[in-house]
Amino acid sequence: MKRRSRRLLSWIVWSFLVVTGSTTSPPGLDDATVSQVRANLLQVASASWELGTAAEALTELSWPALSVFRSTAFPPPTQLNASLNASDVLQIASETVQNKPFDSMALVANDSAVGDPASIGNAVLLANWTRTDLSDTSFSFAAGQQLDYLLNYAPRSAEGAISQRWDQVQLWADFIYMAPPFIAYFAITQGGGGALLLLQAAYDQCRLYRDQLFDSDVSLWRHVALGTWQDNLHWATGNGWAAAGMLRVMETMNNSAYANQLVAQTSNMTSWINEIMTGVWTYQQQESGALLNILDDPTSFVDSSSTALLSSVAYRMATLTNNNTYVTSANKALSFVSQNINANGWLQNTVDPYTFWTPTAANGSSAEGQAFVLLMHAAWRDYTGGSAD
Ligand SMILES: *[C@@H]1O[C@H](CO)[C@@H](O)[C@H](O)[C@H]1NC(C)=O
Ligand SMILES: *[C@@H]1O[C@H](CO)[C@@H](O)[C@H](O)[C@H]1NC(C)=O
Ligand SMILES: *[C@@H]1O[C@H](CO)[C@@H](O)[C@H](O)[C@H]1NC(C)=O
Ligand SMILES: *[C@@H]1O[C@H](CO)[C@@H](O)[C@H](O)[C@H]1NC(C)=O
Ligand SMILES: *[C@@H]1O[C@H](CO)[C@@H](O)[C@H](O)[C@H]1NC(C)=O
Ligand SMILES: *[C@@H]1O[C@H](CO)[C@@H](O)[C@H](O)[C@H]1NC(C)=O
Ligand SMILES: *[C@@H]1O[C@H](CO)[C@@H](O)[C@H](O)[C@H]1NC(C)=O
Ligand SMILES: *[C@@H]1O[C@H](CO)[C@@H](O)[C@H](O)[C@H]1NC(C)=O
Repeated sequence: MKRRSRRLLSWIVWSFLVVTGSTTSPPGLDDATVSQVRANLLQVASASWELGTAAEALTELSWPALSVFRSTAFPPPTQLNASLNASDVLQIASETVQNKPFDSMALVANDSAVGDPASIGNAVLLANWTRTDLSDTSFSFAAGQQLDYLLNYAPRSAEGAISQRWDQVQLWADFIYMAPPFIAYFAITQGGGGALLLLQAAYDQCRLYRDQLFDSDVSLWRHVALGTWQDNLHWATGNGWAAAGMLRVMETMNNSAYANQLVAQTSNMTSWINEIMTGVWTYQQQESGALLNILDDPTSFVDSSSTALLSSVAYRMATLTNNNTYVTSANKALSFVSQNINANGWLQNTVDPYTFWTPTAANGSSAEGQAFVLLMHAAWRDYTGGSAD
């Protein structure tokens, strides 16, 4: 109780300072709240994409030196110590590889989404890279099979975009957070002559997906194209997956040994993330700071999940490119998200991530929403701490 009222007080002070023009950065979340949000995430993350997103959020939150936003991760240290142990991330990798049937090329068997199991791949590559038993090839082998499946077995569009479904060619904005960051990170840990090709492949997937999903009139991505049905709505979380996924690929390229060979690609990625930011924040609700689940549909409901994810992208872009255009929007979004975390550390007013079109049921939760809060907090921390590295 005491802690919550202290948090409320700091928000009131911040609002006052903003009004008087004395400050621009909100106080962010306190440690106890972050720790509850994290514990709840670990409790409810179970689907492949939830585990992959959790692993990335835990890396950025607790082990930033291992994240693609820091040059210290290129490559990461081969031996982790007690203060940099990534134990929660490595546990997700170990459980995934232990549960994977030998005849499944994907890291998670029987997943109808092509990209989702690959989202755990970054954690699996880190587990391989930092393993103490050098004769253990299980992580490297599993990651290699996952990459082989994506590049050589999954269906593709005529232009070469890898399908998000195994049973038909269908492109989902979600794919951009799931597969390209893994393909790009594989280049870093594998090294050698194929690395530049893998970075290019990760970039090409973003490019090909944008060709199909970006609507220039509103500067937003549609959710699903091609296949037996489409979702032409501008789903807020889909725009978040696309922007945040491209951001990870861009930083993997730009921090790699191949950065100077990928300048044009990095520049395009910057524009493609910026154009999503432009569209997204145009539709932000001015009073609350929230985003709507369908961004440009005023009858849609407010969604705290995508508001958190997209504010993380705005903070990261400001840190990386010194472009502060959307920091004020991100601050308002952070304020909204903060007020929507209840006393038990659950994010409220989320979209149901399994339906896309309805709010999460009362007393339900969104695992990805819990992760997005941690991504937002880590991005805010790096922005206000100035640790671009
Ligand atoms: C742990 O490892 C990191 C990265 O190698 C290093 O920066 C840090 O100083 C180490 N910490 C301790 C306590 O040895
Ligand atoms: C890993 O680091 C966390 C956070 O610093 C710490 O609580 C935990 O005890 C460490 N685990 C190991 C095995 O060193
Ligand atoms: C699930 O995946 C495993 C491993 O690839 C496979 O052996 C099994 O047939 C699959 N089950 C179904 C119902 O598709
Ligand atoms: C696994 O780690 C080793 C170093 O121990 C590295 O040479 C190899 O490329 C890694 N495998 C993958 C798939 O990244
Ligand atoms: C890419 O790296 C260069 C050199 O470190 C840096 O100046 C630039 O800001 C980076 N760009 C992005 C988008 O991260
Ligand atoms: C960058 O984007 C422009 C415009 O879409 C395109 O013409 C160009 O080929 C892209 N560059 C690369 C390296 O893909
Ligand atoms: C800053 O970002 C905005 C939107 O994200 C973009 O429209 C603008 O061109 C960027 N400015 C520069 C100097 O890159
Ligand atoms: C659901 O209700 C139970 C019992 O009140 C509570 O312990 C739990 O934290 C709630 N779960 C969520 C996600 O709010």
